[in-house]
Amino acid sequence: MQKRSFQTKAIRNQARLSSFREHSTPIYLTSSFSFQSAEQGKRIFDGVENGNLYSRFSNPNTNEFIETLCLLEKCESGIATASGMAAVYTSLVSFLSYGDHIVVSKNSFGNTLYIVTSILPKMGVEYTLVELDDNEAWKSAIQTNTKLLYLETPSNPLLKVADLAFIGNLCKENNIISIVDNCFATPYLQNPSNFGIDIIVHSATKYIDGQGRVLGGAILGPESLIQYCYDFIRKTGACLSPFNAWILSKSLETLAIRMERHSSNALAIAKELQNCKYVRRVVYPHLKSHSHFLLAKKQMRSGGGIVSFELDFEEKKIFKFLNALELFTLTANLGDSRSIATHPQSTTHSKLSPQEQKNAGISPQLIRLSIGLEEVGDLIADIVNALNKIK
Ligand SMILES: Cc1ncc(COP(=O)(O)O)c(C=O)c1O
Repeated sequence: MQKRSFQTKAIRNQARLSSFREHSTPIYLTSSFSFQSAEQGKRIFDGVENGNLYSRFSNPNTNEFIETLCLLEKCESGIATASGMAAVYTSLVSFLSYGDHIVVSKNSFGNTLYIVTSILPKMGVEYTLVELDDNEAWKSAIQTNTKLLYLETPSNPLLKVADLAFIGNLCKENNIISIVDNCFATPYLQNPSNFGIDIIVHSATKYIDGQGRVLGGAILGPESLIQYCYDFIRKTGACLSPFNAWILSKSLETLAIRMERHSSNALAIAKELQNCKYVRRVVYPHLKSHSHFLLAKKQMRSGGGIVSFELDFEEKKIFKFLNALELFTLTANLGDSRSIATHPQSTTHSKLSPQEQKNAGISPQLIRLSIGLEEVGDLIADIVNALNKIK
């Protein structure tokens, strides 16, 4: 299966058929698995024989999901988690001890920064925050006790892009673990492992599900490192449910064609916004105007489904614009087949102080669009119509 193309791996990797010879993998809703004999129970517990024991740490649905994701991310091993945040937390805490230091991108998801700045320090872990795209800052932040580097690229909501090959090499040279949250790009657009990144984290809740139904997450990487995350999840319990794993496995079958369409729709909308006189700036990784356009072209097959832009209007009109949209749902999620408009300053980033918002580039005029799979002409007409109502 390893040598097959992305799409074939995503569709054809499947759990072993049951005696019913089903075509589609069934949902294995069972908390535990029985043994044919007491001897078999002992063998499975001793690790001499492979077999499922208990769904907190293995189940045919979660195994199928994680095996397929490993194929797509070109990783040796992985563990499925209850949510993206469970994956983020596990990927950090599994490797850290009292007295360690970590370097983390300032442009990471808010809850990730909360773990880094509020939870880990209570466990004696120091941190340094750096700008995602400042290679010198990453390098100079490394100390003798630095255990890992953590980032997400492209970042949320301003779609900054990190140089993955630089980060991968820097970590190898300094014997540090590199962790990348690949949630925005998905394995279809970007494989961090191609650039020497050790651990890949996913919120499967976003594009992997792709229809806003279930929460889930995953951590992928070499077996020698994943073993720590596996032990952490096995003992602490933030595992993925078999039902959610079943949904997510089915979703992986369509990830490639969905990401193609998300990206082509998003690029068309980004170009349209760029030509609009009411728009101050547009950010999209595969627009020539992006500050790391060439890097984004090198790392990402296409630009992804998120477009961020600033309208050239006073604050009051921004809410009017959002309320005038008919095809974009107002919600804080992303990665759905349905297009979504989010106002980061008043929602996802509202807990930051005004100064922190300013530092992070979150202005009242900023809007993040998660471009869905609707007909792109309809989406553009909806944006133009909403602009015409407020100008
Ligand atoms: C980049 C990124 N990582 C992690 C998460 C957390 O994922 P979840 O909501 O599945 O816990 C999110 C959620 O929005 C995210 O945007």
